[in-house]
Amino acid sequence: MSKVKAIKLADEGMKELEWAEKNMPILTAIQKRFEKEQPLKGKKVSLALHLEKKTGQLIRTLRAGGATVRVASCNPLTTDDRVAAALTKFDGIEVFAWANQSTEDYYANLNSVLDSKPNLLIDDGADLINIIHFKRPELIPNVVGASEETTTGIIRLKAMEKEGALKFPIINANGAYSKHLFDNRYGTGQSALNAIMTITNNLIAGKNVVIVGYGWCGRGLAIRARGMGARTIVVEAGDRMPYAEETEPSGWHKGLEALYEGFEVMNMEEAASKGDLFITATGDKKVIDVKHMKEMKDGAMLANAGHFDLEIDIPGLEKITKEIKEINPNCEEYILKEGKRIYLLSKGRLVNLARPAGQGHPLEIMDGSFAIQALALEHLAKHEGKLQNKVINIPTELDDYVARMALESHKIQLQPLTDEQREYLTGFKEGT
Ligand SMILES: NC(=O)c1ccc[n+]([C@@H]2O[C@H](COP(=O)([O-])OP(=O)(O)OC[C@H]3O[C@@H](n4cnc5c(N)ncnc54)[C@H](O)[C@@H]3O)[C@@H](O)[C@H]2O)c1
Repeated sequence: MSKVKAIKLADEGMKELEWAEKNMPILTAIQKRFEKEQPLKGKKVSLALHLEKKTGQLIRTLRAGGATVRVASCNPLTTDDRVAAALTKFDGIEVFAWANQSTEDYYANLNSVLDSKPNLLIDDGADLINIIHFKRPELIPNVVGASEETTTGIIRLKAMEKEGALKFPIINANGAYSKHLFDNRYGTGQSALNAIMTITNNLIAGKNVVIVGYGWCGRGLAIRARGMGARTIVVEAGDRMPYAEETEPSGWHKGLEALYEGFEVMNMEEAASKGDLFITATGDKKVIDVKHMKEMKDGAMLANAGHFDLEIDIPGLEKITKEIKEINPNCEEYILKEGKRIYLLSKGRLVNLARPAGQGHPLEIMDGSFAIQALALEHLAKHEGKLQNKVINIPTELDDYVARMALESHKIQLQPLTDEQREYLTGFKEGT
């Protein structure tokens, strides 16, 4: 039995789903194939994803492939109640999600999607996988595998793998080029700024915009802020991330990359007094803390695009605040004891997804990301019992297929290699 805000919103939600279908050609092509081939027949699939129209199109694709689907949101603020109602009423999906859930309801809903004893999971932030491993291990024998959507979830799961704690295989959907190159970068770049403009109705041009973290998301935020006329400052870590592989760049490399890209680069102490708008995208905690807030200008705005609401030290902000006023559902004014005002957007949660202002990534971007997710579940089902209990990459040919399909949707054909070129590129005799 679904738990959604209001089933009467279903007709509106269906219009959203139909619009998604029209704008997600890769997923729609996979859906048609799934209908014929039934790769998920008999499988129970549980999802924790930001529940909005693009996710709806993924859910319909999995159902077309023969799966029985239950879904919760991976964030208390990000459910589109219209889509939740439509999936329940018209598609018979069991939905446990609504916008603005309490923390207790959030965890109760995650547990409800697990009550079906799922065989396959899609997670975003690894909360579902975490609950199964550490709170409900009796569910482990049913699980064929899971696919994880985001950087923060993958960091948590790789840490579990290192300790030998993973009990089923995980596909690193975020690791697919078709996901992080486009979703984290161009998706977050556009959708976070879009939400911030909707919330504040402010001009980006002429503002000092500070982007904290110059990873995939941060790069997208920085180039889009600059493109809109902001004076853009990048803050990076003077460190190497403890989870980073040896082949990955350090914070120093990324800071240098940002400098050569033409951004001002500095540490948070320096940026604090300069910024008008701060956007965090680090996956780390307290990257903006109280000592930074004390240095900020009157009227500074703080937004987070990283997965959890830990990047801005909100409990710390509350301690130095005498009064909090709601400006609109996505913006609160913190009047500090010293008299200065700081604006916190979307309670420090994913600003591009927190409703009502956040609409999530553009449709075309999520078409690629969710195509990867659908193919990841098909891969897990096809190789049931044969994959190791590790974080594994999606096969290259599936990643390539999604990028090729995306180009085809733009009616773009690229130049294929000739046999002669292929031979040259795999040999060593020519060219010296
Ligand atoms: N908003 C969205 O829709 C969306 C989309 C994708 C990913 N995410 C989330 O955004 C976060 C970032 O993801 P990503 O793919 O860009 O990760 P990433 O690893 O590519 O980038 C993170 C960057 O933050 C830097 N960093 C870490 N700690 C720092 C600190 N204390 N100060 C300054 N810089 C610091 C790291 O050096 C790194 O360059 C994650 O939580 C991820 O799950 C959000």
